[in-house]
Amino acid sequence: MPAGGGNPLLIFDSGVGGLTVLAEIRRAIPGASLVYVADNAGFPYGAWEEAALTGHVVELFEGLIGRFSPRLCVIACNTASTLVLARLRARFVVPFVGTVPAIKPAAERTTTGLVSVLATPATVERDYTRGLIGKYAYQCRVTLVGAERLAALAEAKLAGAPVDRAVLSAEIAPAFVEEQGKRTDTVVLACTHYPLLMDELQAAAPWPVAWLNPADAIARRAAELWPADAAPAAGPGPDLALFTAPERVSAALRAALATYGLREIAPAPAKD
Ligand code: DGL
Repeated sequence: MPAGGGNPLLIFDSGVGGLTVLAEIRRAIPGASLVYVADNAGFPYGAWEEAALTGHVVELFEGLIGRFSPRLCVIACNTASTLVLARLRARFVVPFVGTVPAIKPAAERTTTGLVSVLATPATVERDYTRGLIGKYAYQCRVTLVGAERLAALAEAKLAGAPVDRAVLSAEIAPAFVEEQGKRTDTVVLACTHYPLLMDELQAAAPWPVAWLNPADAIARRAAELWPADAAPAAGPGPDLALFTAPERVSAALRAALATYGLREIAPAPAKD
């Protein structure tokens, strides 16, 4: 069976952020054949205009679904999910699991009522995100922080570069709010890239907070939708990693991908 064959589970992101979700999916569905797709030619999604990004992602999926006939697709990207999930579900028959800001669990766990959402500049502007706050966190003081450079820092880290801690500290500073003797106690990691910086985030935090990473919840949802009769992957892999700009994948990134079980790298297919 070719790599990524056998009606795989497809995991999609603009870059390496979706690896944080892939790791949990492997644990939750160990038998699934995985295809990881990184639209690194389109990175960062946080800078795209909404209509253009919608058309772009739908078009990419035309090619991916035509080529792989996946049984399930996971959009491991908040910036894409909060915009195009409904369009993808309407356009294709295959089920989609999305990744959206974990605002409901944050509102349930905070004791100070001060919650921050750390995301790309696009995700904090989405109607979808504002809707989640209105529905689940109206009783909290929610601070939305659109980080311009955090996702790129995570990309750089996996490509073997040192993380610029001064930039990281400046990006997360607005998420730490003190008000009337209370402090932010919960920060939603609403971009799948950010858990890749967990050590650096914890080190830079002015005080300890709970960092909410939804990856395990997404993996549980994917496992619920993964058909019980799905044929297991042939052997231990290799699973496949597709990049829209494979020429930009450095040796260090290849090594990092291998630690996620992704040893075969190929160009993402264009629409037929
Ligand atoms: N990983 C992505 C997310 O969850 C987006 C990073 C980007 O492309 O700006 O939002």
